[in-house]
Amino acid sequence: MGKVQLPRIALLGSRGMLGSRILETALAAGFEVEAPDHRELDITRAGQVQSYFETHLFDVLINCAAFTKVDDCEESSLKKEALLVNGEAVGRLAQWCGHTGRMLIHFSTDYVFDGQKSGSYIESDLTHSINAYGETKLEGEKRIQEENPFYYLIRASWLYGPGGHGNFVKTIAELLKTKTKIDVVNDQFGGPTYTGDLAEFTLELLGRKAPAGIYHFANEGYASWYDFAKEIQALTGLKACEIKPVAGKDFSRKAARPANSRFDLSKSTQAVGHSFRPWREALQHYLSKELV
Ligand SMILES: NC(=O)c1ccc[n+]([C@@H]2O[C@H](COP(=O)([O-])OP(=O)(O)OC[C@H]3O[C@@H](n4cnc5c(N)ncnc54)[C@H](OP(=O)(O)O)[C@@H]3O)[C@@H](O)[C@H]2O)c1
Repeated sequence: MGKVQLPRIALLGSRGMLGSRILETALAAGFEVEAPDHRELDITRAGQVQSYFETHLFDVLINCAAFTKVDDCEESSLKKEALLVNGEAVGRLAQWCGHTGRMLIHFSTDYVFDGQKSGSYIESDLTHSINAYGETKLEGEKRIQEENPFYYLIRASWLYGPGGHGNFVKTIAELLKTKTKIDVVNDQFGGPTYTGDLAEFTLELLGRKAPAGIYHFANEGYASWYDFAKEIQALTGLKACEIKPVAGKDFSRKAARPANSRFDLSKSTQAVGHSFRPWREALQHYLSKELV
């Protein structure tokens, strides 16, 4: 039997938290990957994008490039910048993928939902963001659907992993070492998600030629930020600091967060033929093997 030809990947945002893990996972799985960084290809520059599509050989574009500073987006000039990156530029990538017959894999967020649903969110649920970042990500979703190349639009929630600008787990682990008491929100619920598992899932969708569309991904189970912090404390043994549960409304942050952004994972489970690692197990793996 001949060797199966893997699709060639162009990966954007490969220096970020998710992108760096996708790069590592894809290379280890034998994919040919080119990964221009922000300086080599700015997705908001139409000319650069056009020339990249016209001069590079690839079959699948994986876009991890994004403006991800959630609270900064509440400031109008930064929201404008975020809209260019998360909205307009994503539309352009989708358009070029459509025109040139390439596939697009793009990531969105649980913050496209308002959190008012009592159960977990399925992919076709009505979106309605309650913060500016979520609005910019929704704009990207809308533009992909309008351009309609062959796409996977993967919504992820509460991401953590090595690299990038830091994450909740790293922040809490550092605070537990240096503070005697911290406040953590206990009335917002979601799915902690390890970048390593999301990277595997992304490449599995591709490998199994799953149908185009939206997919929700998180590790199994759910937590409040407080539960998440308590588990980090239990697993690190950093017991000297008291973690105090507080209501979201009493915790000062510029952007509102949904009270519930749990994902229903049935569609994704079915697409790859297995369920996903429970969030506590994934967290234990990250803390013991990767958080340095
Ligand atoms: N982090 C989370 O909790 C979370 C949750 C749900 C969904 N997501 C989604 O997951 C995806 C990856 O997030 P992440 O946390 O890995 O992001 P990240 O660590 O902030 O990385 C974003 C990457 O995008 C690059 N970038 C920014 N603007 C660019 C531009 N104009 N042109 C080209 N590259 C640009 C950045 O490069 P420079 O640093 O060099 O500027 C960086 O490498 C995003 O779509 C995000 O919305 C994240």
